[in-house]
Amino acid sequence: MKVSVFSTKPYDRQFLEQANAAQGNRHDLHFLEPRLGADTADLVRESHAVCAFVNDSLDSAVLELLKERGVRLVALRCAGFNNVDLVAARELGITVARVPSYSPEAVAEHTVALILTLNRKTHKAYARVREGNFSLDGLLGFDLKGRTVGIVGTGKIGICLASIMQGFGCRVVGHDPRHDPRFIATGASYVGLPELFAASDIVSLHCPLTPQTHHVVNAEAIASMKSGVMIINTGRGALVETRALIRALKSGHVGHVGLDVYEEESDLFFENLSDQILQDDIFARLLTFPNVLITGHQAFLTVEALTAIAQTTIGNISSFAESGVPDHPVSVEMLA
Ligand code: NAI
Repeated sequence: MKVSVFSTKPYDRQFLEQANAAQGNRHDLHFLEPRLGADTADLVRESHAVCAFVNDSLDSAVLELLKERGVRLVALRCAGFNNVDLVAARELGITVARVPSYSPEAVAEHTVALILTLNRKTHKAYARVREGNFSLDGLLGFDLKGRTVGIVGTGKIGICLASIMQGFGCRVVGHDPRHDPRFIATGASYVGLPELFAASDIVSLHCPLTPQTHHVVNAEAIASMKSGVMIINTGRGALVETRALIRALKSGHVGHVGLDVYEEESDLFFENLSDQILQDDIFARLLTFPNVLITGHQAFLTVEALTAIAQTTIGNISSFAESGVPDHPVSVEMLA
């Protein structure tokens, strides 16, 4: 199949070409650096499939443009599908596929990296020691042992994080409309969302972004959390109401924040903007807090994850080419 690959980075190209070669170069991959949106959809030429990533926009207008150009498959190279208008895709007869699982460990381990860095301030220590400053003032942390970690969304990543945090001696509680016995088997337990917010020293978000989870961490939720709580979001930016978070950071109610995702990240992340003036004042305010650590949507970025993402994506395209049904379809029902 001819495939237009949007938002291509060098590592995407490397791993997708490897996976395609392993299948005898069955597909003609056309790599494009721009993000997919209404202004770039016409870059699609004679392609039956589009391969897209987290910040590509696949709203109804873009899907209509893709349809006009003969696109029949959107192969997402990510797990989340909040950036696709699934109702419009169905109406237009465009099939959507995703990579439901690649390396939950990659995301869970990055979550732990954020927790440990915020707590033990290794990012500050690194800079200090290199400058000959061996003062320990301001580097005070806390033992993770005995602390309560609240996991919102106990799917693949949430379960993996539950295991790791219990290795530190933490008590882990989770909230999810679906109770998974594998989460309980780690030694963790389920509680209601209000109880999770009230009991947790660390709240970590691992549910998909849906209308139900949009701003699940809002002003009211934050107010119900412990003073000094650490909030970690490696799920999707809009799970957190950023303005409410900033207010709670200013008041001191929230003690630490670790973000790998941000509500308006599509204008920022995955690009080198270091020689430009930052236009997003809310993001700029977040960067001023000494107890906020932001990474640019890199939790998935491991060799194992990229290998699995590329293999599954090429597999989705191959199965769609053969049977009209990808291995891992996304349907409107999954929004429920
Ligand atoms: P998963 O599908 O295995 O688990 C998601 C869980 O969230 C499910 O158990 C589901 O029942 C639960 N959930 C749904 N609605 C909920 C609600 N209202 N409240 C609480 N839980 C709810 O997905 P997985 O693989 O664990 O990934 C989770 C999310 O992490 C993805 O949707 C994606 O947005 C994000 N992600 C971020 C990455 C990054 O690089 N930062 C990489 C991969 C995923």
